[in-house]
Amino acid sequence: MITLDYQSAQDLPAVEKLLDQAFGADRYMKASYRLRAGVEAKPELSFTAKMDGVLYGTLRFWQAQLFDQASGTVRPILFLGPIAISRDKQGLGIGAKLLSHGLRRAKAMKIGPVFLVGSCVYYQRYGFSDLGGRSITLPDGQDGDRLLVLGCPDLHDLPQAGLLLPDNGLSESAYTAA
Ligand SMILES: CC(C)(COP(=O)(O)OP(=O)(O)OC[C@H]1O[C@@H](n2cnc3c(N)ncnc32)[C@H](O)[C@@H]1OP(=O)(O)O)[C@@H](O)C(=O)NCCC(=O)NCCS
Repeated sequence: MITLDYQSAQDLPAVEKLLDQAFGADRYMKASYRLRAGVEAKPELSFTAKMDGVLYGTLRFWQAQLFDQASGTVRPILFLGPIAISRDKQGLGIGAKLLSHGLRRAKAMKIGPVFLVGSCVYYQRYGFSDLGGRSITLPDGQDGDRLLVLGCPDLHDLPQAGLLLPDNGLSESAYTAA
């Protein structure tokens, strides 16, 4: 039986190996990793899926910020991912179990909307939607067209133009300066 638990330091080698297998060892080049640079995943939103003590799934969330380019203000958000399930255990509902559990916990924390980079076809069943044409991107301007959001029932609450930033204490100018 699959059991879900919080990630511990002992899980990290197996988590990193699973992420390398799922996304490749060059995954750090992805734009989404710029949101994670210098920031730890939220421990209370970092989960494993295990069977007989063996890790088959990982899901983590990161605290980040949404910068509104018109008003110059920032607000807290959560960034979901990565989620990965071992190849030999995909399609068995483990991802669904991890996502439902993680999203329930994330919503209960009431930090703000949850963003991710991913396929709308997959994530819309969990309530995610696209940004309705808004120009919101990751720090390097990439992946704006694949950004999805949850927890913003009225998309008008989102800025027309914005930037997702890591919650690392640097101001937005570190990411917007030419
Ligand atoms: C995506 C992933 C997390 C899903 O976990 P899983 O345990 O295999 O998924 P579940 O068994 O809970 O759900 C399977 C369903 O998801 C769908 N699905 C899986 N990957 C999908 C994708 N990339 N796009 C669209 N649908 C997808 C399957 O078609 C299936 O649909 P169905 O329920 O209508 O038959 C897993 O396949 C994985 O680790 N993939 C590689 C890493 C990845 O792409 N992560 C997501 C991006 S952050």
